[in-house]
Amino acid sequence: MDAVIDFIQTHRDRYLEELKTFLAIPSVSALPEHAADMRRCAEWTADEMRRIGLENVRLIETPGNPVVYGDWLHAAGAPTALFYGHYDVQPVDPIGLWTSPPFEPAVRDGELYARGAEDDKGQVFMHFKALEAHLKQTGRLPINAKLIVEGEEEVGSVHLDDFIRQHRQELAADLVVISDTGMIDRNVPSLCYGLRGLVYFQIDLRGTKSDLHSGSFGGAVANPAFVLAQVLTQMKDRGGHVKIPGFYDDVRPLTEQERQEFKRLPFNETRYKKELGAPRLHGETGYSTLERVWGRPTFEVNGLVSGFTGEGAKTVIPALAMAKVSMRLVPNQDPDTIASLFEAYVKKVTPKTVALKVTRMHGGKPWMVELTNPYVQAAGTAIEKGFGKRPLFAREGGSIPVVSTFQEELGVPSLLFGIGLPDGNAHAPNEKLDLGNFYNGVIASVYLYEEIAKVGR
Ligand code: BES
Ligand code: MN
Ligand code: MN
Repeated sequence: MDAVIDFIQTHRDRYLEELKTFLAIPSVSALPEHAADMRRCAEWTADEMRRIGLENVRLIETPGNPVVYGDWLHAAGAPTALFYGHYDVQPVDPIGLWTSPPFEPAVRDGELYARGAEDDKGQVFMHFKALEAHLKQTGRLPINAKLIVEGEEEVGSVHLDDFIRQHRQELAADLVVISDTGMIDRNVPSLCYGLRGLVYFQIDLRGTKSDLHSGSFGGAVANPAFVLAQVLTQMKDRGGHVKIPGFYDDVRPLTEQERQEFKRLPFNETRYKKELGAPRLHGETGYSTLERVWGRPTFEVNGLVSGFTGEGAKTVIPALAMAKVSMRLVPNQDPDTIASLFEAYVKKVTPKTVALKVTRMHGGKPWMVELTNPYVQAAGTAIEKGFGKRPLFAREGGSIPVVSTFQEELGVPSLLFGIGLPDGNAHAPNEKLDLGNFYNGVIASVYLYEEIAKVGR
């Protein structure tokens, strides 16, 4: 192992240059104008997999962006880990708030700034380098490895479930390894054992055929912007409790033990509030911030447009009002069930003065893994070796839809081996990767494969 670790130490500078070329490709899956970049990024990922010594590397086509596949399967008798990550990134807007351009990676104060630095190219690249270190130094891996890196995670992994079903045999594994989450803090390594699920909707309200003069017609027809506001206020009460009937029916309550464990985590509410720039924190009455984000479902408005928003004033009654809304879910809420409850409720609370259109978008199931799972324990040991401290156990408020698919279709548990940080600005301007965390992560990953091998199949 010393030789493998030495390899990492001597190649640090090269890693940085390579990662910069990966990050310079603007693989924004949400925007059609980046279609060519998506393919270029998939090709780069495949070339990199070949360079580090993986075999059978190829792009596998889907109705959307290709999945990049590669493997190394010569560790007879050892467990097989399926690695999953994504090469697509979020859009960069608002672009004006970036200190350096999002696709011109730049290092400042030990952090690498670029869109995708943390979510998820940096973390995918971490495994590339750990696999490379093993393969170049010893000619082998302690485990069998299969890698799939997809290009549609940030748009809901729409084609991935079919892909997994179609390639069930080829993807057979003993566990899944995913590095696409965060840690509690710098110097507070942690391991993620739960994710929230998601259901996402667009609500369109139409009042009239076209915008109207608000003097000539104001008072005679409903204003869809106002109706939309009224509809949205029906979704949650002032105590942060979601009012959709049946919404909480399947929520698994936080156990007293889990609540105690959350309390023991080094979480500083004052600092959190300050870093977010929030005048006050707000959430469901009766729960702490960590409980609200990790263990309770929410209803959020993600976007809202209607009427005149330009400079100056325009006296108009808008014809249309639109909102994007979503709900984060926890075990054992089911996205399909919640979607039906939501649809019925929106219909009920929307007055007949407007025409309502409800469109369901992407989503995913919530997920949790047992801490007693031996692979989870193995991951804990690897983090301790890479970061010099025993990890704490944490949940996450975000979603990775494919995790439950792996469980259901392949029958395998997932390890969420993430190294992001709370100030990593994922999805936001000035996304960054802490290089110290990255290098520790490469070392931890090198150990992870060994620890997985020790567990066996
Ligand atoms: N890497 C994130 C998931 C994540 C976010 C995990 C925060 C832990 C903390 C992933 O790329 C992501 O953004 N997922 C989306 C899913 C959606 C597009 C279906 C999310 O959570 O909004
Ligand atoms: Mn991600
Ligand atoms: Mn993301």
